[in-house]
Amino acid sequence: MGLRRKLVLGAVLIVTGLALSAGGCALQRLPNVPQEITGPPASPPVLAAFKSDPAVQTQEDWQDRRAPLLKARFQSEIYGAMPGPAAYEIVSRELLQKPEKGAIGTIERITIAIKTAQAGPWPGGHPTVDLILMIPKGKGPFPVIAGGTFCGNDALLPKQPGVRTTSMALPQECGGGAPGFLVTAIFGRHANAPPWETLAEKGYALASWHPGDVVPDVPVVAEPYLQALTPVGTPPDKRTGAIAAWAWTSSRVVDVLSADPRLDPKRVLLWGHSRHGKAALLSAAFDPRPAAVWALQSGTAGAALGRDDVGESVADITTSFPHWFAPAYRAFAGKPADLDVDQHQLIALLAPRPVLIGTGRRDQWGDPHGSFRALKGADPAYQLFGESAFSQTKLRQPDGTGVLAFYMRPGLHGIHTEDWAEALSFFDRTVQKPASN
Ligand code: GCU
Repeated sequence: MGLRRKLVLGAVLIVTGLALSAGGCALQRLPNVPQEITGPPASPPVLAAFKSDPAVQTQEDWQDRRAPLLKARFQSEIYGAMPGPAAYEIVSRELLQKPEKGAIGTIERITIAIKTAQAGPWPGGHPTVDLILMIPKGKGPFPVIAGGTFCGNDALLPKQPGVRTTSMALPQECGGGAPGFLVTAIFGRHANAPPWETLAEKGYALASWHPGDVVPDVPVVAEPYLQALTPVGTPPDKRTGAIAAWAWTSSRVVDVLSADPRLDPKRVLLWGHSRHGKAALLSAAFDPRPAAVWALQSGTAGAALGRDDVGESVADITTSFPHWFAPAYRAFAGKPADLDVDQHQLIALLAPRPVLIGTGRRDQWGDPHGSFRALKGADPAYQLFGESAFSQTKLRQPDGTGVLAFYMRPGLHGIHTEDWAEALSFFDRTVQKPASN
């Protein structure tokens, strides 16, 4: 590199460093949320009479009457119609790594073609998902932690040459956007890449993919993909939103994972950060197979209650991300209390499976208080199944007993080592047992 280029590069790094530390200081000044729980309890009470449906008394009432009713409302008011069933085909399997040292056995790429009912703008007419699957050394079948990530597979495996990112449009912050070190400085060490080695050491397989392979996370650009996924005959204001499309994509991945003899189909665990946390919750609400869910900072239309409009409002989220939702959701901007459903009812649809909700103390946008109250509001549905109550009373003191769990770590929006530590100890406690037990 010539002297001139070195000088220019040095200047760029210094300016970036200064901007970063100034930005970092500003971010650190964002106020913490209060330590004491604030806000009204979740409403409507989860087992109370709902519209013309009488109060729920038994598991059967819940499963046969209430759950289908809630699923219908979540689709028509918020997420749009869930795409219909679809078969898949494995197009190729490719071994990417087989490290000699460490706990990782293999890392491979499985390319999956999804046979959607209608053709769409995808290359070849149907979506193709590149699934990255890590299998630990040792004897399976292994539990697998599965989740979609923001920026495509080459951000996931930065040291792996030739792991192609999706050919679909990436959101601004990914496609040639901020350099990796900036992303890590702002959003945490694991913003893009999970702790592969730690997971393998603890006996977990990892499945990761880019939801943008199916619907690009870019407003307007996403529209024709959403149209193609929307079941025929759906009214336009209920067309499938991207969160629903990504949730459905998770289920297609679960199809593949459940058929892999190296993995335990009874221990497929979903996770997601933020928008992908919203999708993970929705996916497990509609699909009984995931054994547990960890949703980190999933906020509005995720784990946080929406009726009080604390945190990100319906107006904000539908302005910035209109493609995430059914167009009908926008009508509740400024009047979220008019929605028939709220997010504690979404969590309740996962009962009796374990759910961990992670939050950050300075992440006001993600609404830790609303997420805590949503768990409290979902709890009576869990008790119907004989699960212990969500008895945590303080945001900062996880009680480490029930299958509904909450933590609030210091800091902002991002994925840190301590988030993964919380999730792994939760999964160890609630589901990481040999399949025969
Ligand atoms: C934005 C959006 C949130 C979302 C978050 C994320 O902040 O407003 O709703 O959860 O992005 O996905 O990181």
